[in-house]
Amino acid sequence: MQKLFVEGGTRLKGTVKIGGAKNSAVALLPATILADSEVIIEGLPDISDVVILSELLEEIGGTAKRDQGTVHIDPTKMTSMPLPNGKVKKLRASYYFMGAMLGRFKRAVIGLPGGCHIGPRPIDQHIKGFEALGAEVTNEQGAIYLRAEELTGARIYLDVVSVGATINIMLAAVRAKGKTVIENAAREPEIIDVATLLTSMGAKIKGAGTDVIRIEGVETLSGCTHTIIPDRIEAGTYTIMAAAQGDDVLIDNVIPQHLEPLLAKLREMGVDIEEGEEHLRVRRSDETTAVDIKTLVHPGFPTDLQQPFTTLLTKAEGTSIVTDTIYTARFKHIDELRRMNAEIKVEGSSAIVYGPSQLQGARVCASDLRAGAALIIAGLIADGITEITGIEHIERGYEQITDKLTNLGAKIWKEEMTEEEMAQIQN
Ligand code: EPU
Repeated sequence: MQKLFVEGGTRLKGTVKIGGAKNSAVALLPATILADSEVIIEGLPDISDVVILSELLEEIGGTAKRDQGTVHIDPTKMTSMPLPNGKVKKLRASYYFMGAMLGRFKRAVIGLPGGCHIGPRPIDQHIKGFEALGAEVTNEQGAIYLRAEELTGARIYLDVVSVGATINIMLAAVRAKGKTVIENAAREPEIIDVATLLTSMGAKIKGAGTDVIRIEGVETLSGCTHTIIPDRIEAGTYTIMAAAQGDDVLIDNVIPQHLEPLLAKLREMGVDIEEGEEHLRVRRSDETTAVDIKTLVHPGFPTDLQQPFTTLLTKAEGTSIVTDTIYTARFKHIDELRRMNAEIKVEGSSAIVYGPSQLQGARVCASDLRAGAALIIAGLIADGITEITGIEHIERGYEQITDKLTNLGAKIWKEEMTEEEMAQIQN
């Protein structure tokens, strides 16, 4: 196991290239189960979630050959092999094996998904969708069993706007008999990306990206080549880093429209941002003012940028209120920021940040992926050295983050943990 060190104070300068979207990748890979010939996905990010999902595709009998960001998946020999334990428990997105395997084999056994600890993450809406399509769904000793004689299109109203449920129902419905309508669907760019892949495979989907998605089931889907969209959360994280500590940073391979709520808030704070067609250019400002943010479903402010943004607010003049309406308890980074001298208090689903405070390097722990990003940003702006454990969470979602930041001039490096340190963490 390794830990990460960041020596604060260095200004960032140069270009950073954004990788493929993690939250698309984790759905696109399982979606390939639905095809009957080779699918090629290009531009996948170099993160551990992609490695684990590729291995899971092989566990069920497929082949997944990775060559840098391109994966060739041959789904022809896949079977409905049960996946109750092991890798499937490591990440939340393994729940997409439910929809995809149900869609192809009409049966699946999948362990309850793991993933970041950011509060309760139920999957009742996924199950409601599968049942509406005709599946019987049972929970037996921590594994979900899904069985259907036949899947038949249905009208499904989501009680909660959910990215995962919207995608999972699409996966199960594209090969069902007849028409499915998903109402109150989530509208995230990653949903459009998955619908684009499925459409290239031969699926009939209309309305992805709006809150009503209509699917006309087809009997078979075939292979294709698909290029993933850029990761708006990775791009947003580097944009926040540049706003905090950038002299002049160019963030390349971005769809600026995907980041509108973040860019609006940064401009409100006084950060200088130039938008190109596929890039952003960001320069920090010495004086930024406090702003309030409230996370909402897309196109509102994304919950996945709430934690990194909170760190930035510690530098701003005045009091900011950060409210997370999606994951109301996504505040595990706050205690760690406090250790670094931030003045923040949590009240219900809000964090109140009293700025500005000069952060000080400290030993902190990344409890989840975006908390990890928040702590790296804190390390970049702090006085002295920040030591971050729990970096396996960060590597689940940010490709080559130490290299990318080193290229921008940051002082950041990894070291092996001693046995004593590892024992302390496990206790
Ligand atoms: N919800 C339910 N029932 C469900 C599903 C969701 O009550 O059946 C609730 C959740 O508890 C949450 C809200 O609905 O309060 C939204 O959850 P959603 O289903 O949209 O989240 P998800 O699909 O589990 C994805 C991303 C998350 C991101 C959220 C919100 C993946 C693998 N994960 O999760 O990404 O925060 O959408 O945008 O796509 C991350 O990247 O750090 C991350 C956690």
